[in-house]
Amino acid sequence: MSLPTSLTLGSVRVDTPVVLAPMAGITNAAYRRLCAEQGAGLYVCEMITSRGLVERDETTLNMLVFDDLETVRSVQLYGTDPVYVGKATEILCAEYGVAHIDLNFGCPVPKVTRKGGGGALPWKRGLLGDILEHAVAAAAPYDVPVTMKTRKGIDEDHLTYLDAGRLAQEAGCAAIALHGRTVAQAYSGVADWDAITALVQHVDIPVLGNGDIWEASDAVRMVEETGVAGVVVGRGCLGRPWLFRDLAAAFSGETVATLPNLGEVATMMRRHAELLCQHMGEERGCKEFRKHVSWYLKGFAAGGEMRRSLALVSSLTSLDALLADLDPAEPFPVQELGSPRGRQGSPRGRVVLPEGWLEDTDGSECHLMEEATEVTGG
Ligand SMILES: Cc1cc2nc3c(=O)[nH]c(=O)nc-3n(C[C@H](O)[C@H](O)[C@H](O)COP(=O)(O)O)c2cc1C
Repeated sequence: MSLPTSLTLGSVRVDTPVVLAPMAGITNAAYRRLCAEQGAGLYVCEMITSRGLVERDETTLNMLVFDDLETVRSVQLYGTDPVYVGKATEILCAEYGVAHIDLNFGCPVPKVTRKGGGGALPWKRGLLGDILEHAVAAAAPYDVPVTMKTRKGIDEDHLTYLDAGRLAQEAGCAAIALHGRTVAQAYSGVADWDAITALVQHVDIPVLGNGDIWEASDAVRMVEETGVAGVVVGRGCLGRPWLFRDLAAAFSGETVATLPNLGEVATMMRRHAELLCQHMGEERGCKEFRKHVSWYLKGFAAGGEMRRSLALVSSLTSLDALLADLDPAEPFPVQELGSPRGRQGSPRGRVVLPEGWLEDTDGSECHLMEEATEVTGG
């Protein structure tokens, strides 16, 4: 089969069928810019809550920051109340010039599923349909496409993705992204690409496949095996923004596997830190940068003390001094290629749900309490 060379989501056209997965605490304006500097793609903002936006909560508004060069503003919204989601969608379109809105129905965090949100919500088909319809109706006057991102289901006995796909299509969503794991699996095990194939066959809208793309070749393989219209890449690009260069090349028919030496990685680290500082100020920017250090250095020989110092960095000057001590000629640790990075963990024994949640599948009368400041995402 021939590979897709672009991705169309309603009025939005992306020059390569690649989406940066929304990742709370990671995919802020600085990181999106850093990745976009590598190659084309749709770079989604970290999740914000509908209620937080509608109530103009400060933490929420502080996350709604875009880089000057970000021409296609894409935001993931979390919500459990159709009215709040509709209002938040309207605000994003009217006040923030957002061009694409994704809705989060995949978060596995107990604090979220306990209230029926995230990955628990699609079990309530009536409620899911209402939320999708409110979002699509609010976005329509602005010609902004709405997509949803979800998991296979709550667990293997309570799968929701095929119904969710149908509901997304009926509501007028521009696409559905599927992470091939259940909520119960969290990030453990291997993503089920067969479920992605099943969804592609079940719906007429574009399906975006997500889960376990570690290299550009995995993305190509996912498209070939499942027939998805595009891929969503999360953990594979942690500490490796150049993966977007390889992905763009792969979808234009070239095989590129960027293998930066440690000097080039250090330059990327510096650029990342600099962008974070530009967007957040030096103190916060450096703090935010710390969590990326171990991902950038994964597999390199840099010693424990160097890693510890980098993970405590508090200014760009001290970062420069530390990076200067790395051996720039050290080659990329090729043994890391194709291996998982970021969160993995173990499956959850039981998914925490609201009392009686599984007893009916409608839920259109449910009034779920949504917090304004939920930031856990995933
Ligand atoms: C640190 C982190 C934060 C995440 N935050 C979100 C989020 O806010 N919204 C969401 O839909 N998924 C979130 N996810 C899940 C990813 O978008 C993606 O679905 C998942 O990591 C599987 O894709 P991957 O195998 O390419 O990483 C998060 C994942 C990680 C690792």
